[in-house]
Amino acid sequence: MLITKIYQPNEIATAARELQLGELIAFPTETVYGLGAVATNEPAVKRVYAAKGRPSDNPLIVTVSSFEMAKEYISQIPPMAEKLVEQFWPGSLTLIFEAKEGALPRAVTGGLKTAAFRMPDNQVTCDLISQVGLPLVGPSANSSGKPSPTTAQHVFHDLEGRIAGVVDDGACQVGVESTILDLTTTVPTILRPGAVTLEQLEAVLGTVHSEKKKVAKNITPKAPGMKYKHYAPNAQVLIVAEEQWADALNWAKHQTGRVGIMADPTLVPAFDQTSELFFDLGADIATASQRLFDGLRYFDSHTTPVEYILAQGYPSDGLGDAYMNRLKKSAGDTFFKAES
Ligand code: TXA
Ligand code: MG
Repeated sequence: MLITKIYQPNEIATAARELQLGELIAFPTETVYGLGAVATNEPAVKRVYAAKGRPSDNPLIVTVSSFEMAKEYISQIPPMAEKLVEQFWPGSLTLIFEAKEGALPRAVTGGLKTAAFRMPDNQVTCDLISQVGLPLVGPSANSSGKPSPTTAQHVFHDLEGRIAGVVDDGACQVGVESTILDLTTTVPTILRPGAVTLEQLEAVLGTVHSEKKKVAKNITPKAPGMKYKHYAPNAQVLIVAEEQWADALNWAKHQTGRVGIMADPTLVPAFDQTSELFFDLGADIATASQRLFDGLRYFDSHTTPVEYILAQGYPSDGLGDAYMNRLKKSAGDTFFKAES
């Protein structure tokens, strides 16, 4: 078993050296923490899958500290790419390009002809990548299937003993993973919604497609990660629409098992908000997105298990699209419904 070190931002020279030696180091980004290994080091990349328990056909994002770095691995750069990079990098937009043949190990691309690239909006991590001198793979640094990590402590909880270290730069500001935009299709296609919204992308690109549909298990999906169980805490999550809170709280009172509440406090004034069964999601969609995964993990940490989590729903537009995409997966698409 490895000793997993916690590195402060002023200790990244050591973390960079570990990466160069083939070790796995988790790093902060503005979305969620990523699990880094040098992207051109195939044995190291394979250990990323093992550490996360991730299915091996699910390709990894290549994390770079500049567009120049990404270009080494891309065979074709469509004209709109420069515009997107100028406007949204560093930031929560992952771009999919045709990959240069043989430039990246198969373990990174999962055998696809394309590869995903992202430059995170986090100075410590961009410095780390620059010091390594090579891109890092960067899947979310959680055990596969669990909510993504938004603090170094979440990473430590899931991966202690399996990775060499984690660079701690505090809580992530955005809290949900990047928007994935496929630039290899005739019309650019959103494969996963994130903080860079459909509306923002259409303002730059004109029409953009989005694949909101869930993919069946037996076909090869475009974003291979979409078909797996995701973000699931131990308790059953039920999504609660705004007008349902009175009924939902009443239902909770009559359960024999424990019920946790994740919501804007002003929606549930009658609920004891000092209780350990309450998690404050804040007053707006930005705060709710930032805290969502922390809340799901919070209820898993209770000594007496929580059987249900009632979680606040939001309209699926703007950032709400990303928030609801994650929340629905964590709930297996289950909404609270009052029995009539
Ligand atoms: O915000 C983020 O993107 C975070 C931080 C750490 O950067 N990373 C992240 O990585 O969410 P991961 O591995 O948890 O999710 C990446 C998704 C997966 O669903 C994967 O299937 C998809 O990107 N993906 C990777 N390469 C792809 C490709 N060539 N074509 C389509 N989808 C791809
Ligand atoms: Mg992930």
